[in-house]
Amino acid sequence: MPEFLEYCQRRYGDRFTVRLGRLGTYVYLVDSEDIKEVFHGDDAVFHAGEANTPFLGWVLGPSSVLCTDDDVHMRQRRRLSGAFHGKSVAKLAPVMAEIAAEDVATWPVGEEFSVLPHMRRVALEVILRTVIGVPPTEEARLVNLRANLSALVDLNLLKLIPVAVPSMARLWPWSRYSAVQSRADQLVRSEIQRCRESVDLDERPDVLATLVRASGDDQMTADEIRDQLVTLLLAGHETTATGLAWTIERLTRHPAVLASARDAANQDDQTYLDALITESLRVRPVVPDITRLLVKDVTIGSGDSTLRLPAGTRVDPAIYLVMRSPKRYPDPLAFRPERFLGKRPDPSVWLPFGGGSRRCLGAAFALTEMRVVLSTILTHVDLATTTRKGEPARVRHVTLTPKLGARVTVLRRNAEVMALR
Ligand code: HEM
Repeated sequence: MPEFLEYCQRRYGDRFTVRLGRLGTYVYLVDSEDIKEVFHGDDAVFHAGEANTPFLGWVLGPSSVLCTDDDVHMRQRRRLSGAFHGKSVAKLAPVMAEIAAEDVATWPVGEEFSVLPHMRRVALEVILRTVIGVPPTEEARLVNLRANLSALVDLNLLKLIPVAVPSMARLWPWSRYSAVQSRADQLVRSEIQRCRESVDLDERPDVLATLVRASGDDQMTADEIRDQLVTLLLAGHETTATGLAWTIERLTRHPAVLASARDAANQDDQTYLDALITESLRVRPVVPDITRLLVKDVTIGSGDSTLRLPAGTRVDPAIYLVMRSPKRYPDPLAFRPERFLGKRPDPSVWLPFGGGSRRCLGAAFALTEMRVVLSTILTHVDLATTTRKGEPARVRHVTLTPKLGARVTVLRRNAEVMALR
């Protein structure tokens, strides 16, 4: 996929069209001025929900914030946004650190392993504890949720075949996935019910409690809450885990950056860690592109470079290509956190979280989680560096993951962790 996008850009330039039969016609945009027009265009014309629905609607449900548009989307987004502001998210950092430390304590020493499955476990646990609000003491409940919800969001290209050929949904193995879906659904619904009945509802800091407490216009039905919870699980689990795995993969290939990151973590220097994460999400974006479906005919650009696009076209800001443009980032493939040291990234060319009114709702949550988890890893263990080539990217549903799962070796644990074990 990344190679294909690069090939198309080399061959056809900063605007190119990919026709995918029943899946539609996709016009990729690489120029940041074109992309600005998409992100700041009329939401009633550039439909993200309608574009996402064929791929995600069958898992997320009809009222998911990712699969709706216009007023319905705005309402769902507003209801969720309070829980995702910087201040609300900052309160979750201690739980995130605790979950990361528990996982790092299980890492082997002196033996190579893939860090991505560990990051998935951490990201899932963070969602279970901070979004659904399951207390750590409820082990049996957590075990059940872990198994069933991770199976629900374990999406791959095979599972998407019924999107193109709906009649396949009734056949094995797709029929088996429906059973997984209904088990997970029941569990989520019983969490909603349990939350509605909880005696400490008013004090609970988790996202589910915020949604259940909402009143007036913001009040939600159980179906709506179910759809948002599954959306947050899907949107926030694999993405953050993959972002973390890529950052570790990059660090182990850049000894000087790894040393600076370790110093920063030990001194609680958030500025360097933030720059490191910003650079990692630039050079290894988790989501390579995003889509808007045009509801009306649209023109992009002006004069000689006017591009006319008919209604029904899918327009794709090519995040991956924009963030490795040599015009925007000198020596774009080099991994240099210093590019962002003490600087906010330019929102027109730093796009790992998309943009406009659909920009990732969980961006602050993800950046906090990445900083806290990385800091925990760097203070708890010493990672070995390697001279091996970087891992190529593998497409996994809508994300690009490190092909080998980001292989790492721990050289030693620090004394504090030894004491915890
Ligand atoms: C590194 C981690 C993450 C990355 C790279 C990422 C990336 C993205 C991208 C590219 C979009 C689409 C934006 C657009 O269409 O313009 C998106 C949407 C969204 N993300 Fe994230 N995401 C991450 C983590 C999270 C987390 C942790 C959560 C919540 C727990 C979350 C919740 C959402 C939601 C709800 C949307 C839909 C927003 C809307 O349509 O209004 N994401 N994300």
